[in-house]
Amino acid sequence: MRFPLWKRDAEAGPAYFIRASRSDDMGAVDLLLSRSYPRLLKADYPPSVLVTAIPLISRAQPELLRSGTYYVAEAADGGIWGAGGWSLAPPGGTAQRGVAGHIRHFATDPVHVRKGVAAAVMHRVLLDARAAGLTALECFSTRTAVAFYAAQGFEVEAGVELRLGNAVVFPAVRMSRAI
Ligand SMILES: CC(C)(COP(=O)(O)OP(=O)(O)OC[C@H]1O[C@@H](n2cnc3c(N)ncnc32)[C@H](O)[C@@H]1OP(=O)(O)O)[C@@H](O)C(=O)NCCC(=O)NCCS
Repeated sequence: MRFPLWKRDAEAGPAYFIRASRSDDMGAVDLLLSRSYPRLLKADYPPSVLVTAIPLISRAQPELLRSGTYYVAEAADGGIWGAGGWSLAPPGGTAQRGVAGHIRHFATDPVHVRKGVAAAVMHRVLLDARAAGLTALECFSTRTAVAFYAAQGFEVEAGVELRLGNAVVFPAVRMSRAI
């Protein structure tokens, strides 16, 4: 479904729209994540963390892409400016009984940050998650994204250490909000 166009002002360049991702977005989302994470996380994490974590967190996830609850911001020229979504199951886990969903894999192309792209994706997340009957969302935020999630109404709960694979520990921040 094509969602309403989002355009901040005449200066903001070509319009983009938010749509559910598809399996054939794999290459474009992979490219987006591999452009976004290494560049934007650099200010908030030491190289020793990034060198092991980036290969693990900056790959598109096929099951998310076809879940129907992961979205991309597609520009008029077909470029993918941002992505993000939600799932009932936490990252790497299985869905539990309850009404909290989990925010998944938000990223904006570094060239297009601070244009409201991720906020537009979050708007769609909130609409769909509410429609699915959820009453809360939780996320494991990178240090980099804490200010973004705070601007979207999320509150910090605790600092956490995520285990990526067997050996990699990635410091993150658990945040949540009612929806
Ligand atoms: C976090 C991220 C997705 C935000 O994307 P974005 O499209 O630039 O965010 P938006 O433009 O929609 O920002 C909306 C609001 O969030 C806040 N915000 C976003 N980025 C911010 C930053 N770096 N510093 C402070 N506030 C910020 C601001 O209030 C902003 O509104 P404003 O621009 O009018 O001040 C992007 O920085 C990113 O891709 N980071 C790297 C990947 C990452 O950490 N993802 C999170 C995984 S948990």
